[in-house]
Amino acid sequence: MTERVVILGGTSGIGLATAHRMLDSGREVIVTGRDAGKLDAALAKLGDARGEVVDARDHAALQAFFGSTGPVDHLVVTVTGAPGTTAFAELTMDGLREGVDGKLVPHTAAARAALPVLRGSLTFVTAASAGAAMPGTAALAAVNAGIEAMVPVLAVELAPVRVNAVSPGVVDTAWWDFLDAGTKAATFEAIAAGLPARRVGTPDDIASAIAFLTENTYTTGVVLRVDGGGRLASAA
Ligand SMILES: NC(=O)c1ccc[n+]([C@@H]2O[C@H](COP(=O)([O-])OP(=O)(O)OC[C@H]3O[C@@H](n4cnc5c(N)ncnc54)[C@H](OP(=O)(O)O)[C@@H]3O)[C@@H](O)[C@H]2O)c1
Repeated sequence: MTERVVILGGTSGIGLATAHRMLDSGREVIVTGRDAGKLDAALAKLGDARGEVVDARDHAALQAFFGSTGPVDHLVVTVTGAPGTTAFAELTMDGLREGVDGKLVPHTAAARAALPVLRGSLTFVTAASAGAAMPGTAALAAVNAGIEAMVPVLAVELAPVRVNAVSPGVVDTAWWDFLDAGTKAATFEAIAAGLPARRVGTPDDIASAIAFLTENTYTTGVVLRVDGGGRLASAA
């Protein structure tokens, strides 16, 4: 039977690349985002997928959405929080709460709301900042490490549903659009030079890891780091 995959945050970047991969492997795909225009553009590119506007900060909206999907074989959560870094001396508690509300709450709410219909796997997308000891990323690190800390707990608690995460390093997506084009290109060039892989990631690099975690039925409780070796470079 055709597997059904839901990608929350599937209208751009890593989520959209994942949707393409899932369709290519013969799955039925449902993508969501907040912006109706972005959703329409994504559906036009994807061709065969369905989609809906759902704000993943809104637990009731997520519950209503999963009440309409039917059984879900794989849930992938690529919802992102606010971009950019903040020096710890400038971090406000509102800024910290925004980070939590923008990513930790939506990922948790998505997993919780999908429970009645989820039967195969759940994959979160976290971030290398969780363990990178990078100045300016204390809030990002806390949020992403919070999601990663749930992975082994949920892998046991929700079994036989498998629960994993992919932790990307730097990936060329709209997440970086808070920088102007020139600064973004220079930033990527500098980061690439310091990585063992000698390049920044593409959305499909991460989509391929997500596809592996959905397909490999003997893998659960894992945080898979797909970072071009960034964790090694930062320790050097
Ligand atoms: N790009 C990187 O370098 C990088 C590195 C490490 C980790 N990550 C993580 O990878 C994941 C995907 O990021 P990306 O780079 O692919 O970013 P992106 O291109 O900006 O995509 C983010 C997606 O999430 C959706 N989204 C955001 N907030 C949402 C909400 N409250 N409810 C529903 N959908 C929401 C967006 O749609 P709308 O705009 O319509 O809301 C969009 O579809 C994120 O969790 C990010 O933190 C990215």
